[in-house]
Amino acid sequence: MTLIESVRFAFSCMDRATRKNVVISVFLLALTSSMEILGIGLVFPVIQLLPAETLEGQHELVQLAAKALAVESPDTLALIGVIALVAVLGIKGVSAVLVQAWSTRRLLEGQYRATANLYSAYLKADLAWHNRNNSAAVLHRLNHCCNVLFGTVPTNCVTIFSDVILSLGMVILLVTASPVAALISLAFGAFGVILNNKVLSVRIRDLTKERDEIARLSQGLVLESKHGIQDVRVLACEPYFFTRYRRFLDRLTDLFTKMKVLALLPRYSFELIAGVFILIVFVVITETLDRAAVVPTLALYVVTALRLLPTVARMTAQVSMLRTAIPSAMELAKDRETFGQNLFKTAMVDDTAAARDRQRLPLEQGMELENICFNYLPGEPILNNMNMTIARGQCVGIVGPSGAGKSTIIGLLLGFFAPISGRILIDGKALDPDLSAYERSIGFVQQAVFVADSTVRENVAFGEDPADIDDARIWTALEMANIDAFVRELPDGLDTQLSEHGSRISGGQRQRLGIARALYHEPEMLILDEATSSLDLETEAQISQVISSLRGRKTIVIIAHRLSTVKDCDMIYFVKDGTVAGKGTFESLQKSNAEFRALVELGDLQSAAQ
Ligand SMILES: Nc1ncnc2c1ncn2[C@@H]1O[C@H](COP(=O)(O)OP(=O)(O)O)[C@@H](O)[C@H]1O
Ligand SMILES: [Mg+2]
Repeated sequence: MTLIESVRFAFSCMDRATRKNVVISVFLLALTSSMEILGIGLVFPVIQLLPAETLEGQHELVQLAAKALAVESPDTLALIGVIALVAVLGIKGVSAVLVQAWSTRRLLEGQYRATANLYSAYLKADLAWHNRNNSAAVLHRLNHCCNVLFGTVPTNCVTIFSDVILSLGMVILLVTASPVAALISLAFGAFGVILNNKVLSVRIRDLTKERDEIARLSQGLVLESKHGIQDVRVLACEPYFFTRYRRFLDRLTDLFTKMKVLALLPRYSFELIAGVFILIVFVVITETLDRAAVVPTLALYVVTALRLLPTVARMTAQVSMLRTAIPSAMELAKDRETFGQNLFKTAMVDDTAAARDRQRLPLEQGMELENICFNYLPGEPILNNMNMTIARGQCVGIVGPSGAGKSTIIGLLLGFFAPISGRILIDGKALDPDLSAYERSIGFVQQAVFVADSTVRENVAFGEDPADIDDARIWTALEMANIDAFVRELPDGLDTQLSEHGSRISGGQRQRLGIARALYHEPEMLILDEATSSLDLETEAQISQVISSLRGRKTIVIIAHRLSTVKDCDMIYFVKDGTVAGKGTFESLQKSNAEFRALVELGDLQSAAQ
């Protein structure tokens, strides 16, 4: 992407309100700046008036002003001029602050709207997308790329455009004073801008691209060592992480030094240009103007040079800074391709009260999988013509070897993935792609229960506004999950802080916390995917008891590779190679399916037979 393409992309992502606010900001800022030009314009006649004895020979505008104010002395008129100058500067100062405050707030609102909308798309993205995009990349796009594209780009554009207007005003002022000198200095200014841009453009783009890359990689490295700290410790690979991290920082030192030097170039080259500019103006003016006009014209030029050249230098620096947006634009362009044209303009999550209060779908008869075929990657089928019925109120077990496709079935039932062919029916009706209506009718417990870095209360009522949490329901859920006694003994009860990844609770407690979370929303159906597989037999037995106590009250789906877990189920599906190889109760399946019988006789299933 080029600079222009990136800026165009940024604006095409912004909603109408933000674009409008950018345009308004440009004009308001230019308006305040033009007051400054008015101020500079006043310097010219004031200086001319000071050495004058009478008003004779003064500029007609000055004569006109003198007449209007009924002033005859040049000194008085000069004093009025200076007072007017102070007034103009005062008004300019106040209005500049007000304009900046308004514009900053409006542009920030636009920036954060776009960022929040991107987050909403991530929240709603399918699981396949989440599997492809790691945490560091997602954080980088939300924190860095959005900040650059929807923060830096519009604010820089506002400054650049208002500076353009301001510079044009000053140039016009110069041209009226001395066209020849103005043209020469204009040529000088243009030369400076072109030189700076040519030198800077490629380097800055490459350097920022590298900087962004390093930021993402180092963030990923830290996340990796944080999540895997136990492995890091045991494998004693701290030096690996430390060295890699330090190498990233060394590269950043190098990059930031280069970027700093590049950022200084415009300023110092423009200072040099300003010197040459004043020299040329001095020569031209003394050659072309008569003696009397030299002093004020030269004064005007020096004042303007001191104001115009920094403005031009700032514009150049701002354009260079805009270049840093190119890598971010490229990153976010990929997201817009994935999520659609309106990605940054509309929220994918409906957070209105109406949406929150939406009636959830009851589960009256049950769910059905009808001839489901599915694959994660083209040409590698995972499920082939899968048929399964989960009747309301039943306890259904799904067993089978690891990799048979059990979790995939659940992923389809929960709408994480869509089947390639076949249908998923809920109460006889095809599953709505927008699952939210029935999402909360299903509770889901996985092998690795996610523990949030917050209190027990907030972990059970995960994702609910703390103000809406109903403690009575929390305790009911905790009791049903048979973890209430443990929580009561905790020093702060429900307010006890569980650390990130749940390092303060045991495996069994963690699973029970997961069950309590699933039960808090009073689901019709509870799905447990290997929820007890990582537990010892005794803890598993306790949790099995919890599940048995829920039988009849909830529809339950238990997925396990350990057959003991499912021996009491009303119906067991034996899944193998992506299809149902047998079904029935534990006993009938043992009779009808030789493979299942062999499995039962083989392993820990002896314990199941006890
Ligand atoms: N996100 C994924 N991308 C590609 N292949 C996957 C993905 N998840 C699972 N698989 C593959 O699908 C097959 C079934 O996986 P899964 O349903 O998790 O099995 P089970 O839960 O029965 O152990 C496995 O061969 C696994 O490698
Ligand atoms: Mg699995």
